[in-house]
Amino acid sequence: MKKNIFFLLLFSGLIGKAQNNLNIVPMPAEVKMGKGNLIVKEPLGFILNDNINPGDGGISLFKQYLKKNYGIIKFIDGDTHSYGLPTEIFLDFSNKAKSDGYEIEITKKNITISGNANGLFYAFETLKQIIRRNSKKQITLPVCKIKDYPRFPYRGMHLDVGRHFFPVSFIKKYIDYLAAYKYNTFHWHLTEDQGWRIEIKKYPLLTQVGGCRDRTLIGRYGSNKYDSIKYCGYYTQQQIKEIVQYAADRYITVIPEIEMPGHSTAALASYPYLGCTKGPYKVMDTWGVLDDVYCAGNDSTFTFLQNVLDEVMQLFPSKYIHIGGDECPKERWKTCPLCQKRIKDNNLKDEHALQSYFIQHIEKYLNSKGRKIIGWDEILEGGLAPNATVMSWRGEEGGIEAAKQNHDVIMTPGSHCYLDHSQSKNEDSVTIGGYLPLEKVYSYEPIPAALNAEQAKHVLGAQGNVWTEYMANISKVEYMIFPRMIALSEVLWSPKDKRDWSDFERRLPIIFERLDKQKINYSKAIYEPKINISSTPGYEGIYLSVNSKQEKSKYYFGNKTENQFLIYTDSISTVITKSGLYGIRMLGKPVPEQKGEQWGNAQLSPFENIFSADLKFNFNKATGKKITLVTQPNKSYAANGAFTLVDGVQNEKGMAKSSEFLGFLGTDMDATIDLGKDIDISKVTLHVLKQNGSWIYLPSQVEVSYIPYFDSTQISRIPPIEMVTVDIKQEDDLNKIEIKKEKFCRYVHIRAKNFGIIPSGKPGAGNPAWLFVDEIEVQ
Ligand code: ACM
Ligand code: ZN
Repeated sequence: MKKNIFFLLLFSGLIGKAQNNLNIVPMPAEVKMGKGNLIVKEPLGFILNDNINPGDGGISLFKQYLKKNYGIIKFIDGDTHSYGLPTEIFLDFSNKAKSDGYEIEITKKNITISGNANGLFYAFETLKQIIRRNSKKQITLPVCKIKDYPRFPYRGMHLDVGRHFFPVSFIKKYIDYLAAYKYNTFHWHLTEDQGWRIEIKKYPLLTQVGGCRDRTLIGRYGSNKYDSIKYCGYYTQQQIKEIVQYAADRYITVIPEIEMPGHSTAALASYPYLGCTKGPYKVMDTWGVLDDVYCAGNDSTFTFLQNVLDEVMQLFPSKYIHIGGDECPKERWKTCPLCQKRIKDNNLKDEHALQSYFIQHIEKYLNSKGRKIIGWDEILEGGLAPNATVMSWRGEEGGIEAAKQNHDVIMTPGSHCYLDHSQSKNEDSVTIGGYLPLEKVYSYEPIPAALNAEQAKHVLGAQGNVWTEYMANISKVEYMIFPRMIALSEVLWSPKDKRDWSDFERRLPIIFERLDKQKINYSKAIYEPKINISSTPGYEGIYLSVNSKQEKSKYYFGNKTENQFLIYTDSISTVITKSGLYGIRMLGKPVPEQKGEQWGNAQLSPFENIFSADLKFNFNKATGKKITLVTQPNKSYAANGAFTLVDGVQNEKGMAKSSEFLGFLGTDMDATIDLGKDIDISKVTLHVLKQNGSWIYLPSQVEVSYIPYFDSTQISRIPPIEMVTVDIKQEDDLNKIEIKKEKFCRYVHIRAKNFGIIPSGKPGAGNPAWLFVDEIEVQ
């Protein structure tokens, strides 16, 4: 008996270890490893239980995969019983235990898979990840049992083809990516201010006029620079049918989004009678939010949209149609006689109620055709349409509110699901303002703590959003979605208690190897060194440390200004005491054929260059000094806390990295710097960021108070010697605000007043503005 227990313990230990070796993503619910491998031999039998269409469950796609990747060409289809073939896969479609779930049992002789058709498809995706060729060139599968099913019924990825257009071949690839990680929904954002991308037979100008813009903004929103290239593209109805079928074959539902009432200037440019002012309108060449929207008072707007939706419904069999609803300024409606008449005739409270009227009208129409609507969370404003599903993007609040009102919800908060945000602190391509590293996507929990168990059932799942203002080509889209969409797949599919960041991190090199094999572009930001700057209490200067998760790396650190370079083995750790340009290099694996380059007075090893960055330190009287903040920055932009403001690193104009700033959402920055003793000062400079496209505004006012020596615990009670206040004009394109004043004092207190609520017609209108500050310099 004793011996048996010992054996069991030993065996379960092995199971735990071996389970990890399969490296399946997303992590399955249960994996039990056996011993040895099945060697796949031809002809390979696919034995189906009765009455099954052999096209179901992705069987033919799996055969194509085996042929293309493993050269297996002989297949025999049979039913019900063994035919004594060298390898047989028994497929049982009758197991409906868990929707989309599957079970796989691999023995040394054969494979049994059960599930419904969706489940079988996912089983094949799992097999594709664990099949391999061994050193004897045999094709093998590990003996194991897998029982798997998804945590959430809605597992989505979105793609905006309005800002940039992508060809049919890439849309199919994108669908393949979704399928490989067990997503089941493709949210296709087809209409935008910058382009209408779906052929509508009744309204040919939508694509002839609305499908083209004359030029495109260069760089970030607000740059005011344009190329002179006409940019066009749309999908024909035939192509759309082909894509919808391609997705269906991979158990993916395509949900089309036809935006209304905002983000619609491409439609207005095509048919100006749809707008309040009747135009003329043009297809937009820059990003942002525009005041011209569909007129809500004109009945012909609804006739138009219903006719468009009739054609859309013929192309897309999905239960849901996404009708947008986000970012719709009410400026035109406020002065449009027809819109005002609509408000009066229907006893509507205001323009928000008119938006609600608009959405409810469209919902009624789609419901009458047996479809349901999804809208962005603004559709809550002015009253939710009775059967609508809400996509919560401006945080989770909209989703929480909708679930409390017993509406279904899909979570896509910008904080965790916007894959257009940067994933690197050292991103050198243009991205939208936010910073969303891989770990943060992986940490996402779609069920908010604020919901009780009943309300939580309304959370259908979550979705990664891919807005393409700054993704002009396929390679950039791949770079932005990988590996973050793989992390999100585990959030959506795997049981909550199976989600384990350290195990995901362990599987990453294998995930990257698979992406390499498929020639998919992806970001390796996870391996970038973490650069940490901190104070050296009691000593002059600041402390710099650099380390990374990448093993076997070698670091070089140098003061480029003085041409002094040093070599470190596993990390950099040093104190810096003077201004200058410093360089960091990180090298990885040796590259035998290559000669190491000369870097300053250092001869670099002939190793692969993984990372290089320059850091410019501007030492001033505040650098490394003690700083306190009255209001802490927002959690999403807290960088290295208050010390960030005196760390000596100042962003260069046009090169700002949002990750080095403290972000204050709707609140003021209120900082006090202790200079250590009374000293002469002549100038205080506040380094800020202006990026209105990312909701970041200059402060409206900056106030500097000069305070003499006093007991630091009582600092708030002593009157300043003097206080200087300056008002800031938003039109100015500033990245720093200077306040010149000669004073002799110990403390400097700086208050930067937040701009407040973003005005109508600007991205993020109606939301509080961000105030971004990266440094306070004292000269
Ligand atoms: C959105 O990101 N405007 C839904
Ligand atoms: Zn109107």
